[in-house]
Amino acid sequence: MLASVLPALVASAFSLGVRACGDDHSHAHDTDASLIRRAFPSVPLPAPTRPLVWGDVNIIHTTDSHGWLLGHQKTSWPEPNYSGDFGDFASFVTHMKELALEKDVDLLLVDSGDLHDGTGLSDGFPPGGVDGHESNKFIAQLPYDLLAIGNHELYVYANTLDMHQNFAPKFPGRYLSSNVNITLNGTDGQPVSVPVGSRYAKFKTRKGRKVTSLGVLFDFTGNSANTTVQKVEDMVKESWFAEAIQEEPDFFLLAGHMPVSLKDHWPTVFNAVRAVHPTTPILILGGHTHIRDCQQYDNRSIALESGRYMETVGWLSADLDEKHHKKNISFTRRYLDPNRVTYEYHTGRRNNTFDTAHGQEITKGLNQLFDNFDLSFLYGTAPQDYTLNRNPYPSNGSLLSLFAEQATPVALAINNSRASVPKYIISNSGALRFDLYKGAFTKNDQLTSSPFVDAYSYIPNVTLSVAQDLFNELNKQGETRRALEAYDAALYERGEVGMRYKAWLEEMDARHGIALRDASNLTLGYVTKDNCPGVGDDIAHAPLPFFSTPAFIASLPPNVSASTPIDLVYVNFFQPQLLQVLNSVQSVRQYAATDTTVYTPLLTNEVLGLFAQAAWNS
Ligand SMILES: *[C@@H]1O[C@H](CO)[C@@H](O)[C@H](O)[C@H]1NC(C)=O
Ligand SMILES: *[C@@H]1O[C@H](CO)[C@@H](O)[C@H](O)[C@H]1NC(C)=O
Ligand SMILES: *[C@@H]1O[C@H](CO)[C@@H](O)[C@H](O)[C@H]1NC(C)=O
Ligand SMILES: *[C@@H]1O[C@H](CO)[C@@H](O)[C@H](O)[C@H]1NC(C)=O
Ligand SMILES: *[C@@H]1O[C@H](CO)[C@@H](O)[C@H](O)[C@H]1NC(C)=O
Ligand SMILES: *[C@@H]1O[C@H](CO)[C@@H](O)[C@H](O)[C@H]1NC(C)=O
Ligand SMILES: *[C@@H]1O[C@H](CO)[C@@H](O)[C@H](O)[C@H]1NC(C)=O
Ligand SMILES: *[C@@H]1O[C@H](CO)[C@@H](O)[C@H](O)[C@H]1NC(C)=O
Ligand SMILES: *[C@@H]1O[C@H](CO)[C@@H](O)[C@H](O)[C@H]1NC(C)=O
Ligand SMILES: *[C@@H]1O[C@H](CO)[C@@H](O)[C@H](O)[C@H]1NC(C)=O
Ligand SMILES: *[C@@H]1O[C@H](CO)[C@@H](O)[C@H](O)[C@H]1NC(C)=O
Ligand SMILES: *[C@@H]1O[C@H](CO)[C@@H](O)[C@H](O)[C@H]1NC(C)=O
Ligand SMILES: [Zn+2]
Ligand SMILES: [Zn+2]
Repeated sequence: MLASVLPALVASAFSLGVRACGDDHSHAHDTDASLIRRAFPSVPLPAPTRPLVWGDVNIIHTTDSHGWLLGHQKTSWPEPNYSGDFGDFASFVTHMKELALEKDVDLLLVDSGDLHDGTGLSDGFPPGGVDGHESNKFIAQLPYDLLAIGNHELYVYANTLDMHQNFAPKFPGRYLSSNVNITLNGTDGQPVSVPVGSRYAKFKTRKGRKVTSLGVLFDFTGNSANTTVQKVEDMVKESWFAEAIQEEPDFFLLAGHMPVSLKDHWPTVFNAVRAVHPTTPILILGGHTHIRDCQQYDNRSIALESGRYMETVGWLSADLDEKHHKKNISFTRRYLDPNRVTYEYHTGRRNNTFDTAHGQEITKGLNQLFDNFDLSFLYGTAPQDYTLNRNPYPSNGSLLSLFAEQATPVALAINNSRASVPKYIISNSGALRFDLYKGAFTKNDQLTSSPFVDAYSYIPNVTLSVAQDLFNELNKQGETRRALEAYDAALYERGEVGMRYKAWLEEMDARHGIALRDASNLTLGYVTKDNCPGVGDDIAHAPLPFFSTPAFIASLPPNVSASTPIDLVYVNFFQPQLLQVLNSVQSVRQYAATDTTVYTPLLTNEVLGLFAQAAWNS
């Protein structure tokens, strides 16, 4: 469902600091073993078995990193597979550059956007700060050849301004926003609209290959005021576009925050370039739907998408040297699980020869930022894993059940004069973003799992049976809407990608999930089936189990009769929909917004922490 993406992200700049811990909490907990080291994997990780295939032109690709610069540090599988931090990644890039020199080939580093919104490193800033401002300084320390803007750079004007003023200048001419502008106050007092970064780039590789690049964002409409996203189909008609692609380079390197699937807009850009250059190699690096995917729009091009949250680092190689323009180009692609073992294997390094001084400095800096934002602040210790889609809802392994049935009732009762009135609480499952794993539950985990900032309201004197009818009807409508492509399309346009990512998980589980998990010794992870030749995943995995979940989740009903009046409590993000459905499931009275009252000053993003403090500290 539409997570509270929009209100939440807009509000985040102001309210993430609400419970910031400038108070009297003790740091004694911070010595918890699981919090100390955030780079070396805490469990043994066997190595990949297939060396990467190098070509004349090679690319390392990141996308949708969303602040996950300290990697995934939990010990539940498959998290350790993604335990490499950005310092490890920096060391990896350095060694790969050395290998490229030895092989005398080109190696480029490309990012496809969405640097904001995802973990405490990006979102845990103190009041008055700007999301991603500190974490992006570490991105800027890597030798990226090309970067593209993502939609998460555009929900909050201050973030876009920060990218324009502070981030883009770190990569002169190489931070691209071909169809994205920001409006600034001009010197003459008139507003002026300018590209956030640059519209296109032309440069030469180390080996002297001429490259023309774009950085394109999908047709996103959820951007903040004073930012502009031009539709891709209009961008390709611009005269600057025609001029930019006119001269034939050795290859086009197109980065962009846009999925590579045929139903999205890469083909629009691809066709516009192909119309002018029928055989020039085109290398495309996409993103946004958080999946691993690869397409070849024709036999002299390739388009790669490299997952999300630093759970994937993409590899692409191309043999461009044969100049027979009629021939297919040999491409390879690989999806790496980002961790030290993967990095060491592919660079021929060992644990004690892998780290570069710069890599270690980055890890140290990230840990320092973690401390500065007090992200180790411990709410409690989770007794087990709670997942979004790996366990059915309802069940005791479901994060949705934990949130709806346990955490919300406990948290909302705190300091609440209505706590003794029986209540039924309805939340949107989109209030939760990431699995919650066994072990320490910290401020960082709270920002990661439940970042959205929405209030709870209530309507008194609704009978339990009406409240339950309402809940069932809300989900029934959700199912109906889900079946409508137009509804999905509307959400997608606003930046929601959960449905695409979940469809991917569901597909890999349906393909052979049970068989692989039961019959083999494979470990859990992504099992990619894309449209490029050969096997893409660097490590063979069995897929995670997948269970689909409803749009709305509820507390257990109070132990009262169906006709007893209770408090109907809900996340007011979906109040208009709730009122409409409430008026359709009963006719005793017509409810309006004036019948609703704020239930508690607490917000959705505080619920898990308060629950953990109450329940997970024994
Ligand atoms: C532009 O001017 C308006 C009105 O004076 C002001 O509120 C706003 O902060 C300015 N924006 C920037 C980016 O300086
Ligand atoms: C947009 O920018 C103009 C000035 O450039 C300013 O007056 C206006 O308040 C801004 N709008 C928002 C919603 O920030
Ligand atoms: C973006 O900025 C450029 C340069 O100021 C301007 O020419 C163009 O019209 C703007 N594009 C959009 C879509 O606002
Ligand atoms: C060339 O690539 C096309 C797909 O673009 C494929 O159908 C064809 O079999 C390839 N030909 C050769 C000789 O590899
Ligand atoms: C590559 O594709 C083009 C058109 O799609 C086709 O004409 C050509 O024969 C293909 N080349 C090879 C080697 O298959
Ligand atoms: C790698 O080296 C670090 C630091 O010396 C050490 O703590 C860690 O246990 C080593 N890991 C392996 C897998 O040997
Ligand atoms: C969760 O449910 C399973 C199956 O019903 C049960 O075996 C397990 O003990 C339960 N765990 C907890 C923590 O309640
Ligand atoms: C509840 O009230 C107590 C006493 O006023 C206060 O210390 C505590 O912070 C409050 N808790 C919440 C979650 O607001
Ligand atoms: C509660 O609802 C009943 C009818 O459904 C009504 O008779 C009663 O007055 C209501 N009480 C309050 C406090 O609104
Ligand atoms: C799985 O087991 C087979 C033989 O039992 C072994 O050869 C193979 O290496 C194992 N694979 C993994 C990923 O552990
Ligand atoms: C990924 O995790 C599994 C355990 O689920 C482990 O066996 C496997 O070796 C890991 N892969 C890498 C590259 O570390
Ligand atoms: C529900 O309430 C009834 C009557 O007050 C009581 O007998 C019963 O034990 C309660 N059930 C639970 C699960 O609390
Ligand atoms: Zn993203
Ligand atoms: Zn995105």
